[in-house]
Amino acid sequence: MTSAVSATPKMARLVLDGKEIEFPVVVGSEGEVGIDISALRASTGAITLDEAYVNTGSTRSGITFLDGEEGVLRYRGYPIETLAQHCGFLEVAYLLIYGELPTAEQADSFREDIRNHTMLHEDMKSFYNGFPRDAHPMGILSSVVGALSTFYQDAMDVHDPDQVEVSTHRLIAKLPTIAAYSYKKSIGHPFVYPKNSLPYCDNFLHMMFSTPAGEYHADPDFVEALNLLLIVHADHEQNCSTSTVRMVGSSNANLYASVSAGIGALWGPLHGGANEACVDMLERIVEDGGNVKKYVDMAKDKKNHFRLMGFGHRVYKNRDPRATIIKACCDKLLQKHHVKDPLFEVAQELEETALRDPYFVERKLYPNVDFYSGVIYRAMGIPVQMFTVLFAIGRLPGWIAHWKEMHADGSRINRPRQIYVGPTRRDFIPTDQR
Ligand code: ACO
Repeated sequence: MTSAVSATPKMARLVLDGKEIEFPVVVGSEGEVGIDISALRASTGAITLDEAYVNTGSTRSGITFLDGEEGVLRYRGYPIETLAQHCGFLEVAYLLIYGELPTAEQADSFREDIRNHTMLHEDMKSFYNGFPRDAHPMGILSSVVGALSTFYQDAMDVHDPDQVEVSTHRLIAKLPTIAAYSYKKSIGHPFVYPKNSLPYCDNFLHMMFSTPAGEYHADPDFVEALNLLLIVHADHEQNCSTSTVRMVGSSNANLYASVSAGIGALWGPLHGGANEACVDMLERIVEDGGNVKKYVDMAKDKKNHFRLMGFGHRVYKNRDPRATIIKACCDKLLQKHHVKDPLFEVAQELEETALRDPYFVERKLYPNVDFYSGVIYRAMGIPVQMFTVLFAIGRLPGWIAHWKEMHADGSRINRPRQIYVGPTRRDFIPTDQR
């Protein structure tokens, strides 16, 4: 396919079987260029083949801008660095979902709406009895979020804005409670009810770490770090889990079912599960004597399935701006609390070694959002299995914003096609003759 080259190309031409067809070129507000092939199949009978969607824009979106070459990330136009420095997580959630930063009044009212929904229905607690004590909290999170749909059958209509609004508030309010209960279950402690006088992040730490037997006050530095981590995870345009939420939602499945599917997609170690996998890897390196070079060599060996977890990204071919913010936060927190974590030292050495190595340089593989986040969570006393759960709490506003945008745009059911490469028509052979 050749494009009509000009400062702003308007059409792309495709020649197939001697026939020339023109396709409009779409230019985004930041100058990104896409070829709109919506009419391709109708006019040629052919489809495109783009395995793993490396070149495919699945939608137009006005939520998050990401420039992987320059290492830029903005939510609704605001740089991530600015939001991370100045905002509370719920303010950023509001920005993603409603498109604008809230006024003081809107922020208060949003916080109040969330506070109203932090408790779980008492019957939901019995689900936790059915999970094995060592169940992975991501499995619990996905199941319990899916089960919310059975408790709120009054909020299933995806075209009713009031029902979507209350589901939005319920999800943002209840996800930390569901998550903290899964941790309490794993250690055999009683569930701690939310305390609505506390702000969002304090309340989560309260449900995680307080017990009926004693007083608990969250360390303000931990609250600040958690707020920052939730913000930098809050959206990342059409990543695997967000695309899953949009895909499921496109069949008009309710918001709870769509988010539950997104949690499943996030769990994988190539996506959000990399934060847990990264800490496991760093622990392994420390236990193995800290021989960083051995692991860098293993990651380069094509016969070995081992990869440096927390390294590389489909879109970023430069530093992941989130990793830069998180590393600075990690540095500050560990220094202030006089924590000497061998994992942080190994992580830094691993980063330096990999970034000097031609294999990583040529492939433009840099630390991603998951590389240092686990070190902060460890310093806060959060167990490793909960790391991806925290990613999910952070990503939730992004999922909701995309789900709503998809419906507002009147999207059709998402349904890719395929190039069939299986057997052609053949005759059936009865069992006794096979
Ligand atoms: N360690 C070693 N080699 C790597 C790594 C890594 N972490 N990441 C990519 N590569 C290599 C690949 O082997 C491939 O090499 P080749 O060209 O010789 O075949 C090349 O770099 C390109 O990698 P792909 O897998 O084709 O890139 P893709 O865009 O499909 O995958 C991904 C991106 C999944 C993030 C990948 O870099 C990876 O597996 N990283 C480790 C897991 C991880 O940290 N995931 C979190 C991502 S951020 C997030 O989702 C929140």
